[in-house]
Amino acid sequence: MKKITVIGAGNVGATCANVIAHKDLTREVVLVDIKEGVAEGKALDIWQTSSINNFNTRVIGVTNDYLKTKGSSIVVITSGLPRKPGMSRDDLIKTNALIVKEVTEKVVKYSPEAIIIVVSNPLDVMTYAAYRAARKNSSKVFGMAGILDTGRYKAFIADALGVSPKDIHSLLLGGHGDSMVPLPRFTSVSGIPITDLLNKEEIDKIVERTKKGGGELVNLMGTSAWYAPGAAAAQMVEAIVDDQKRIFPVCTLLNGEYGLKDVYMGVPVKLGSNGIEEIIELNLEKEEQKMLEDSANSVKGVMKVLDDMNLFED
Ligand code: LAC
Repeated sequence: MKKITVIGAGNVGATCANVIAHKDLTREVVLVDIKEGVAEGKALDIWQTSSINNFNTRVIGVTNDYLKTKGSSIVVITSGLPRKPGMSRDDLIKTNALIVKEVTEKVVKYSPEAIIIVVSNPLDVMTYAAYRAARKNSSKVFGMAGILDTGRYKAFIADALGVSPKDIHSLLLGGHGDSMVPLPRFTSVSGIPITDLLNKEEIDKIVERTKKGGGELVNLMGTSAWYAPGAAAAQMVEAIVDDQKRIFPVCTLLNGEYGLKDVYMGVPVKLGSNGIEEIIELNLEKEEQKMLEDSANSVKGVMKVLDDMNLFED
């Protein structure tokens, strides 16, 4: 039985732990937070839904006690501040980089073999920060964004067509920011190309709304989203625990793929018990490649801000 840890019992972390529990993937999920009592309370609340929602997974909450996370196979890091209206994800870098670094070091101390999934924002750069702090192979340190972003994209398409979101398949590339690259050419409804079902103007509108999907929710709620981010991270955990070899857009370190190097961002990967088991390269058209490169440049700019903070030794 694999032990799963979720760091951060805020909205995203608690939702993630809750969804993992519902999936009944394992017997024990450890939920960690720095605020006294919060993780304990939310874990107990989740456990009290077990008989109602029919699962056995025990979520255990602890305050900053990383010893309890010892021997985890998978650790989801959600720590850090969420966005407020008017903030971009990048505005969070200084605060969240320090938090993610410290958390990752503690995680690795007690669970050196763990696969680490980062959810903190700015996502791509925080994943890079965790990678630097963890000193592990990048196939074991990656970030959740593409499942969330395609989740939004699919929801908007489902609404536009009046069809089930379950039948929509899609891919998305790039950083988790306004320069992300949804790919209509790789989007279908049960195999029917989306370009046969919606006109360019309709598709463009959906693509634009997807890119700003996180911001739309920040504006509505005064803080960033949690149901879809938490569920998306839990879906990655499931693919790993169950060795499902699912193909998802995941934030990963590129090493020459798509002509890009030394940048963490979203591309399709195969996810299984070894973490990222393959990075899938699509044959992009010129315009798509250009959008991907623009997105990479935008992520690299923020990665440089992190590098200039000199948090890491090598
Ligand atoms: C969002 C945040 C979690 O996109 O990045 O909602």
